[in-house]
Amino acid sequence: MSVTSESRRSWQCCIACGDRLGELDPRPRCDCGGLLDVIHAAPPSTGSELRQLLDARRTDFQAPASSGVWRFRDLVLPSAGLEVLSHPEGNTPLLERESISHWAKVARLVLKHEGHNPTGSFKDRGMTVGITQARRIDPRAVACASTGNTAASLAAYAAQAAIPCLVLVPQGQIAGGKLAQALAYGATTLLVRDGFDRCLALIDQAAAELGVYLLNSINPFRIEGQKTIVFELLQQLAWSPPDWLVVPAGNLGNTAAFGKALEEAIAWGLIERRPRIASVQAEGAAPFAQSFRDGFATRHEVVPDTIASAIRIGNPASYDRAVRAIRDTDGVVTTVSDEEILEAKAVIDVAGIGCEPASAASVAGVRRLVRDGVIGFDQRVVAVLTGHILKDPELLLAYHQTSEPVPPKANRPIEIDGDLGQLARVLQRLET
Ligand code: F0G
Repeated sequence: MSVTSESRRSWQCCIACGDRLGELDPRPRCDCGGLLDVIHAAPPSTGSELRQLLDARRTDFQAPASSGVWRFRDLVLPSAGLEVLSHPEGNTPLLERESISHWAKVARLVLKHEGHNPTGSFKDRGMTVGITQARRIDPRAVACASTGNTAASLAAYAAQAAIPCLVLVPQGQIAGGKLAQALAYGATTLLVRDGFDRCLALIDQAAAELGVYLLNSINPFRIEGQKTIVFELLQQLAWSPPDWLVVPAGNLGNTAAFGKALEEAIAWGLIERRPRIASVQAEGAAPFAQSFRDGFATRHEVVPDTIASAIRIGNPASYDRAVRAIRDTDGVVTTVSDEEILEAKAVIDVAGIGCEPASAASVAGVRRLVRDGVIGFDQRVVAVLTGHILKDPELLLAYHQTSEPVPPKANRPIEIDGDLGQLARVLQRLET
């Protein structure tokens, strides 16, 4: 049977009360306050037919199949047609370096590098779907709260779609490059004199009362796009699933998206065995890890404190969805210190790969879980690097240039006069 999109139906469903909303309903959440899921009728095909179709599209260089999100459109937004707005995005590499596996103390660690997306993070995967959905709804403006990456991504996609765009960022707590992107792409940028959690609460209220379309990962169409990180990596592994998927966790959109992707990949016959998810939080911003430790009996909220700006979040919005993802995949939630994050980042950077601090939490998390006996040395592990090395450059420069005591992997620059003799002496020292 052929796989066709046109005849397939999708709708939104509240994960708390089960109420159904239409596919084009713009409400950010159910009237009961619950988060929404997008549900698709199962594809009319076997798993192997679906795999064949998806594999055939890998050599299609025409949009939208050339996008690493829209190649999977049957599993993401089957009803989308001409309104698809793509950069394109996705098609990010799987990378392996012996030095990183060695540091993390596993035989083989594979890295899925989402920093290779057009605006420098995985957010572009969710945003292409979110903005496509916005075009079908035609709101007065799109909006988000952000610690940086979401703002840059939404600003870029809204610019491409010519939809007015509002981004709310915590004043003084956003990386310079990300603020620069939001401004350059033309977003109306509000510097809120408060933290990320307040920015999100404010924009959530604006979505309910002012008719703007919310494009944080509360929005279930963002989650649909982010599922393709998992579909794409499974495809790159020839549909042979790893034992573990390890991901940094802040607002919990990715943890939620990974759980949903794996559930659907099993239900639709793409894979037969479900990898376990490991979500990694920074010790100073770990409300989800706290809940995991008490069997998710209590939802915690903390005042977040970590150098990793992207996961500096104290009240994660996708909590309920993420609990489901961890339960369904027999997953775990762990924490790592800022020192471990910085050391992991230095190891990733010096291998010639590079990532932002929050992303390095996944690799630091692998090492922690191996040490704790949760991940076995011989297990196949994929860790996701969520963002680009040029995020938080102030932190990077301080680590290498000025931090005292000198951190273990610091690469101090050397000041010289414009003099060949001095340069020659540096070269000599390199060889000894
Ligand atoms: N990694 C990066 C690079 C991020 O930008 C974010 C979130 C996360 C991890 C956390 O992912 O929320 O799915 O658990 N950044 C948001 C932002 C908050 O505004 O850009 P999550």
